[in-house]
Amino acid sequence: MDFLASTHLHITTWVLAIILFLVALAIANPKVVHMILRVDYILIIITGIALFIKGMDYGQGMLYGLKFIAGILVIGMMEMTLVKKKKEKPYTTFLVLAFVFFFIALFLGFKLPMGINFLA
Ligand code: HEM
Repeated sequence: MDFLASTHLHITTWVLAIILFLVALAIANPKVVHMILRVDYILIIITGIALFIKGMDYGQGMLYGLKFIAGILVIGMMEMTLVKKKKEKPYTTFLVLAFVFFFIALFLGFKLPMGINFLA
């Protein structure tokens, strides 16, 4: 299952998630888009865990742990935003938090040693 520990595959899955999330936010009936987005969450998590396991060789467990948490929180906040929107409740807080955790995940991902690391 080594092919799963690919930063390119991981990037593809979360870029797709951001696009699906923004579309789901913009359209009136995002039922199907939301469903596809949920499948994509699984792909983000699978590739993320594969990278995490491989990452344990680099001796930066603390930062990898924070990256893991930040990634999960992005997914959590996207999901909360869409569920609140569906129930016609206020969702701005979750939307803002989704972007805050997104930038934290982006920063840590680009800082950590695998793949692209222009922030290292
Ligand atoms: C939407 C949420 C997420 C975003 C925006 C995101 C973003 C990124 C980025 C930008 C990278 C760097 C890619 C590269 O260097 O080429 C990365 C790598 C990584 N991500 Fe994520 N990620 C997310 C979710 C997750 C989740 C849920 C996990 C864990 C289950 C995870 C674990 C990892 C690991 C371990 C790496 C490798 C770090 C390295 O050594 O470069 N990510 N991610």
